Amino acid sequence: MGKTHLAISLIGAICLMTMNCQDQSVRAPDGSGDGLIAADARDLHSYSNPGQVRVKHADLDLEVLFDRKVIKGIATLRLERASGASAAPLKLDTRGLTINLVEASSDGTVFLPVEFMLGDSDGFLGAPLEIKLPAEAASARITYETSPEASGLQWLDPVQTAGRKHPYLFTQSQAIHSRSWIPLQDSPQVRITYSARVRTPPAVRAVMSAENDPQSPRNGDYRFSMTQPIPSYLIALAVGDIDFRPLGARTGVYAEPSVVDAAAREFADTERMVEATEKLYGPYRWDRYDILVLPPSFPIGGMENPRLTFATPTIIAGDRSLVSLIAHELAHSWSGNLVTNATWRDFWLNEGFTTYLEGRIIEAVYGRERREMEAVLGRQDLERELSQLDERDRILHVDLAGRDPDDGFTLVPYEKGALLLRLIEETYGRERWDAFLRGYFDHFAFQSITTAQFVAYLKKNLLDSDPQLAARIRLEEWIERPGLPEEAPKPASDAFAEVAAAADLWMRGERKLAGIPASGWTTQQWLHFLRSLPSPLPGEKMAELDRAFGLTKTGNAEIAHQWLLMSIRSKYAATDARLESYMVQIGRRKLIKPLYEELIKTPEGRKRAEAIYARARPGYHPITQTAIDAVMKP
Ligand code: BES
Ligand code: ZN
Repeated sequence: MGKTHLAISLIGAICLMTMNCQDQSVRAPDGSGDGLIAADARDLHSYSNPGQVRVKHADLDLEVLFDRKVIKGIATLRLERASGASAAPLKLDTRGLTINLVEASSDGTVFLPVEFMLGDSDGFLGAPLEIKLPAEAASARITYETSPEASGLQWLDPVQTAGRKHPYLFTQSQAIHSRSWIPLQDSPQVRITYSARVRTPPAVRAVMSAENDPQSPRNGDYRFSMTQPIPSYLIALAVGDIDFRPLGARTGVYAEPSVVDAAAREFADTERMVEATEKLYGPYRWDRYDILVLPPSFPIGGMENPRLTFATPTIIAGDRSLVSLIAHELAHSWSGNLVTNATWRDFWLNEGFTTYLEGRIIEAVYGRERREMEAVLGRQDLERELSQLDERDRILHVDLAGRDPDDGFTLVPYEKGALLLRLIEETYGRERWDAFLRGYFDHFAFQSITTAQFVAYLKKNLLDSDPQLAARIRLEEWIERPGLPEEAPKPASDAFAEVAAAADLWMRGERKLAGIPASGWTTQQWLHFLRSLPSPLPGEKMAELDRAFGLTKTGNAEIAHQWLLMSIRSKYAATDARLESYMVQIGRRKLIKPLYEELIKTPEGRKRAEAIYARARPGYHPITQTAIDAVMKP
């Protein structure tokens, strides 16, 4: 911290102590002073005060310094003040940022330094940045630097990329990690447009969740603009040896050169997916839909960054069998990016709707059977997780007070949310329900809404039209109570019934593996087959499966995951090497966390897990590190 900064911080600290003490007792300043937002809409995960001063546009100037693992940034924020709030400061969220200079301007051209105060850092929330603004200020400019440990960034050395020649950087901002690389009002209730200039070494390319020009020369100087207002968690950047292939007129894929052609083959149905979704739910409003395939350390499956979905390479299976993840991220262009959860308590509005839409897109493009298989797997996963979760996390409208929103990341908002919507569909009929959904997306387009707003809209526009049907959907029970209500739909699949029967016959010795029609099975059938087998499966049965189907060598990351899990349970040592390379190479939390959890159930397993983790941890993303640290803690 420089001397001037220290002096300004002290002045700020005194202001804060004398003028704004009530803000210290309430996590969300909005809850105290802002009558416009109902109590229910309070964002407990932001220090910002959009009810008084609101950021409308961010102009970013970012310099990516790979050698120091730091972004040097200048963020110029255009502001709007509520009437009667002319004395209010601007409050921003930050996490691990070094703030070098803060200036304000009344005309957007002449900037003068102003006082600011960077508050104490509170773990996952980070530190509030309070800026004293002259009454006439229309913009603020913050000169800052990120920390090499920024929770929203992962810096990869060349060896962690497919090409092994160039470094790579990517962001993952949801839920509250934007603040670790941009100082802003990091709340899903604040929508902004943005423009950016990104400077990088000349050998790499930058892409953002904005208008990208794949034809722009690779020269280390890139410009972007996002003209539709989006919440901060959708601001995204990636920098690396990134090439582009078009898929359709308005769709395409970005990836490292050695991956981009396989990615283009895998995602060849993307344009059809966009068309199918438009037919169901109205126009795609974001102009282009492109996909960026990240290196394998990407900590999640996919992220719906607008115009540019970020995706794990582990869905490239060679047979398009895992592209429901693309359907999911695409669906967020309606549920999530267009109609956004107002707080992280309302996360199920994003993910439950999206999981439901994902199923409808898969049905439209690949048929009902494929959708039903995925729905059965989804419900199985949900039931397993429900049996392990605390009561408070089995509720859709989850209470996150005092908690990191990343902790609310369970299957409940996804699968329970989707089952509720499926129940409404089955009760009112597809025609009325689809018309309702189209109206919903139109009505709330480019807004952030709470669970209560959705419920009120649903009642008025669907339920009240037929109270008898409405009585079959116990909404309050679904949304505010733990667990899965009795009337929850039970997806079923004939293709799965066959597979389960085959597993049963083989186990009883009544059928040979050679007699099972496995060559025609889809990934989903394979997963169901393996899950239908007893656990642990005796070693000789594991070996028999492996000889017949080469499971240890499978290139399908989901099937490999299931097989490795079974191998740990069965102490089937033939997979040892594959297990280790899988856990070191892949950083996708969903695929590796269960493997660590399974390993540490025995003392020898824990030893192996520790040895593997010691090798793997440096290559994992902060999100995955946090998750695995929690598993491995003694
Ligand atoms: N928006 C989520 C990812 C997310 C949620 C990141 C919360 C951080 C906090 C994304 O749309 C998602 O749900 N991804 C899933 C894949 C999907 C097919 C269920 C994932 O990454 O597992
Ligand atoms: Zn999602």
